[in-house]
Amino acid sequence: MVVFICVWVVLLWEEAHGWGFKNGIFHNSIWLEQAAGVYHREARTGRYKLTYAEAKAVCEYEGGRLATYKQLEAARKIGFHVCAAGWMAKGRVGYPIVKPGPNCGFGKTGIIDYGIRLNRSERWDAYCYNPHG
Ligand SMILES: *[C@@H]1O[C@H](CO)[C@@H](O)[C@H](O)[C@H]1NC(C)=O
Repeated sequence: MVVFICVWVVLLWEEAHGWGFKNGIFHNSIWLEQAAGVYHREARTGRYKLTYAEAKAVCEYEGGRLATYKQLEAARKIGFHVCAAGWMAKGRVGYPIVKPGPNCGFGKTGIIDYGIRLNRSERWDAYCYNPHG
């Protein structure tokens, strides 16, 4: 019973603050899902399923390309926040954090940078750049 009340209170709080779950990712709806031509993509089958080649293909299929670190950071500065690591250009992996949270970004803001991956067969999501998208 207590658990139900807690969940209910949390849900009300989330509603009031624009928070919620989408695609299994806890996020704030006032944050942008796309900014400065940059957007996040995951495989149809779910999170963290794309190799570097596949991530690149997903962006190119949509007429864009993998975003660079600079493009991701430019988008982040105007509110692009995603709690899921994805491939960027040149085999880099990271994700943009506007507001730090306990479950996302290790309490830091900025691009959480996993660096340039030597193993391009690792599976992550993708960050695409398409100024016309
Ligand atoms: C590269 O990553 C894939 C997927 O995680 C893994 O199966 C493979 O063993 C890795 N290769 C090397 C050389 O570490």
